[in-house]
Formats: sequence, structure tokens, C-alpha cells
Amino acid sequence: MQLSVVILAAGQGRRMNSDLPKVLQPLAGAPLLRHVVDAVRALAPAAIHVVHGHGGERVRAALPDPDLDWVLQAEQLGTGHAVRQALPHIPDEHGVLILYGDVPLIEAATLRRLAVPAARGSLALLTADVADPRGYGRIVRDPHGRIAKIVEERDADADQRAIREVNTGLLAAPAGTLRRLLDGVRADNAQREYYLTDVVGLAVADGIVVDAIEAPSTVEVMGVNDKCQLAEAEAALRQRRARALMEAGATLADPARIDVRGEVRVGRDVFLDANVVLEGRVTLGDRVRIGPNCCLRDVTLGADTQVHANCVLEEAIVGEDCRIGPFARLRPGARLHARVHVGNFVEVKNSELGEGSKANHLTYLGDATVGRDVNVGAGTITCNYDGQNKWPTVIGDAAFIGSGAMLVAPVRIGAGATIGAGSTITANTPAGQLALARAKQVSVEGWERPAKATSDAKAARIADSLGTNAEPPKK
Ligand code: UD1
Ligand code: CA
Repeated sequence: MQLSVVILAAGQGRRMNSDLPKVLQPLAGAPLLRHVVDAVRALAPAAIHVVHGHGGERVRAALPDPDLDWVLQAEQLGTGHAVRQALPHIPDEHGVLILYGDVPLIEAATLRRLAVPAARGSLALLTADVADPRGYGRIVRDPHGRIAKIVEERDADADQRAIREVNTGLLAAPAGTLRRLLDGVRADNAQREYYLTDVVGLAVADGIVVDAIEAPSTVEVMGVNDKCQLAEAEAALRQRRARALMEAGATLADPARIDVRGEVRVGRDVFLDANVVLEGRVTLGDRVRIGPNCCLRDVTLGADTQVHANCVLEEAIVGEDCRIGPFARLRPGARLHARVHVGNFVEVKNSELGEGSKANHLTYLGDATVGRDVNVGAGTITCNYDGQNKWPTVIGDAAFIGSGAMLVAPVRIGAGATIGAGSTITANTPAGQLALARAKQVSVEGWERPAKATSDAKAARIADSLGTNAEPPKK
């Protein structure tokens, strides 16, 4: 049986007290709705229909996946009404799986189980036993223990409210059956809405089998309606992803203090210290060690590379056995070959560093191509920007750049060249030679330190040099 998915995402999410539509609230760096879409993709459905309304354009823009079918629900008249907007796009012989944009932690394995009964013509509900059923629709069973109907909290009597078996909202049924049942749903309830949940009572009356599939954990079916629940979901997802990293062999200093906001692949014996944030696609080779307080986004690190504390790495490719940080920044386009060292307060942008090269302290390398075994001294800067254009710097193999050099691009430093400390290099330097571009040191014989001036003498000198309006210094 082919499967069509409907995701309900039209609600406003008033309880968020936010200008951002509820389904766009970020969970692990991605919109809630993104998590739901990713989970259903694993089932390879024939179509994914997203019912949207509030913040419609923003919601669509945030999920640009070309294969999503966006269905507008102009007025939010209830979950049953929302599903009805999508049904004209679904053939009768499909199974329909209904998800909620605000139930983001659902997993593919559970959805697969939920979709099975539809193939034999049944209606399946995902249910959960919860300690605190407040806010949920309650599952009402008949004396034989069969599901009779769902009662929404606002329509429930005291006995019904005591029921702790709840409706998670997720449901699956054959499309033809669902269409017929939804036609019978009326808005005669406390909220004057068309409840999707009413199809359960109608199905029972029609002799259609209703199966309850129990959710494997309450976390998976948790609804996110306010910022407190959003934080709870974040914590739950953090835990889930930390566990996945540990299962893959990584050692985490503290699983509660690591944030995985993307796809992370780890080799063997990777170590991640506290407060590491991983975003986008991150690949860590065998035995990589990441120190505390590091943020890595879209980064690949080769085996045995160590990143010390407090580094920020973005869109960088790093080879094997490199040493980075503490306090280093690799910006987009940084490409480090094996055994490169990039030390404290060093920034590398759109630059390649050849094998064994080192820039250990206080350096900016931008738009540079650095050869092998180059030593870049402390405080060296590539002056790559003239105010309008960016220019490249090329440094040959085994060059030695003295401390505090300004390399004014475009410029080439020959292989094996030495640049004297403090030089401002504006022209290409030949291979193997020493280049010096700095003022000659002088010693002034007989020079004496200034004597303390009287305030009148000071005022006179200031007036003489700067004009009468100049303010004297405070002290
Ligand atoms: C719903 C269920 C309840 C269940 C709970 C689980 C109904 C009537 N009730 O209640 O049994 O226990 O979820 O979390 O279904 N939406 C639309 N259009 C609408 C109304 C809602 O797209 O007109 C969307 C919302 O954006 C949301 C989802 O449907 O993603 C659920 O709506 P919500 O109002 O949160 O329903 P609950 O009161 O939580
Ligand atoms: Ca809800």
C-alpha cells in the first residue's frame, strides 16, 4: 500500500508568545517541522502534504524541499478540518499517516509500526500512558477493553479526565475510509472545532477495527506548545544524540553538555570535552580530541588532530595530526594539511597551509597559500584587503616569516626566504634570501629624558603646537 503523509502545521502556537510561527521554533538548530519531515522521509512516502496557515510564507521558505506539497488551511477550524484540506490530493487506495508539526521527536521506527494496520483496512492510533495527562485527548475504552472513542480534555467529564491513556494525535488509516469518516465529523464541542479525533468514535460505530499502538517512550510523542516544553524537547534530543555518539564509540566528558545540531560522524576513540557544539556536517577522524568550549560547523578533521579549548571552526578541512588552539579561529575555506599547528589568537580564512607549517601566535592568514614547513612568526598578518578588493598571498615551502611582518597582498614570498621581524613586505621576495623592510635602528648619543614641565610651560607649549582651543590633558 502506498503511503501519503499529512503533517498538520497550521496552528499559531499562541502559548509560545513569539513572532515566529510555532513549527519554526528551533530545536537543535532546526525548525520543529524539519524534524518531523526528516522522520517521515525514512518511510519513503509517496507524498508529504504539509497543512500550513499561520506564518504560511515564512514556513514555506524555511523548508524549501522541492517535493513537499503545501496545502493551505486559511482558517484554523480544527485538526479534522486541517486533514480534510489535504485529502483531495490523496487517492483512496493510499494509506494516510497523520503527524503534527509540533511533535518533533517522533522516530521512523514508530511511524512504520503505526502505518502497518492501515494496509489491512484498520484505523491505528498512536497512544501513550502518561503520568500527567493534562491537555491530551483521553482514550475511552468499552467494558471489553476495546477503544470506544477519544474525548478531548475540554469535553471530558471527571471520570474521563482521570484516564492516563492518551491520544498522541498521530494516526494512520486508509485514505478512502478516512475521507468517509471525516465527512461525518461535526463541530459540536467545547471549542466549536472539527476534531480529527472524532473519527475514532465514528469508526467504532461503523465496525472499523481501531488499533492502539503504544508509543515506545513518552519523549517521542511529546508535544511542544510553549518555551518550557521546547527546552524539555531540546534536552531530550541532546541526550538522544549524545547517546548516538557514544554508541558510535566517542567518549564524552559530559553527555549533558554536548550539542549536536547536525550530522556528526566519528571515527574510533574520539574524545569530546564539555560544552562542545557541533553543527552542520562534522566528520571527526580516529582519535580526534576536541577541548572544552569549541564550536565546529561543517568541519572535517583528520585522524589524531587535537583542537584545544575555546576554538571556533567553520567550513574548514583539517588534515591528520594537526594542533589547533587554544583560542583559534578557522573560517570558511581554511584548509590545513597534515601536522599543521595553528595556535592561540590565530585566524585563518580561505587559506591553505601545507604539511608541517606553523602559525602559533596572534596571526591573520587570509586568502593565502602557504607551502610546507613554513614558520609564520607571532603577530604576522596578511594585508589581503585594500578597502575594495581582496588579494592573495603566496608563501613558498620552508619560508620563515619573522614576527610582526605585514605581508601586503598581492605578494609572493619565495621558498626558503626569511622575512626579518617587523618588515612590511610590499614586493615579491626572492627564494632563499633575507628580506628586510623596516627602519634602521639608531642610537642617539647624549639624549636626555624630558624634565617635568610647570603647568604654565605646558599650556604655552600646547598653545604653540595645537592652537589655543586645545584642551590640556587631565593629568
Ligand atoms: C491534539 C488532539 C489531542 C491530542 C493532542 C496531542 C485533536 C482535536 N486533539 O490536541 O487528542 O492529545 O493533539 O498533542 O486533534 N492544527 C492545524 N489546523 C487546525 C488546528 C490545529 O493545522 O485547525 C495543527 C496545529 O498546528 C498542531 C496540531 O494540528 O500542529 C495539533 O493542534 P493543537 O491545537 O495543538 O491540538 P491539541 O489541543 O494539542
Ligand atoms: Ca499540541
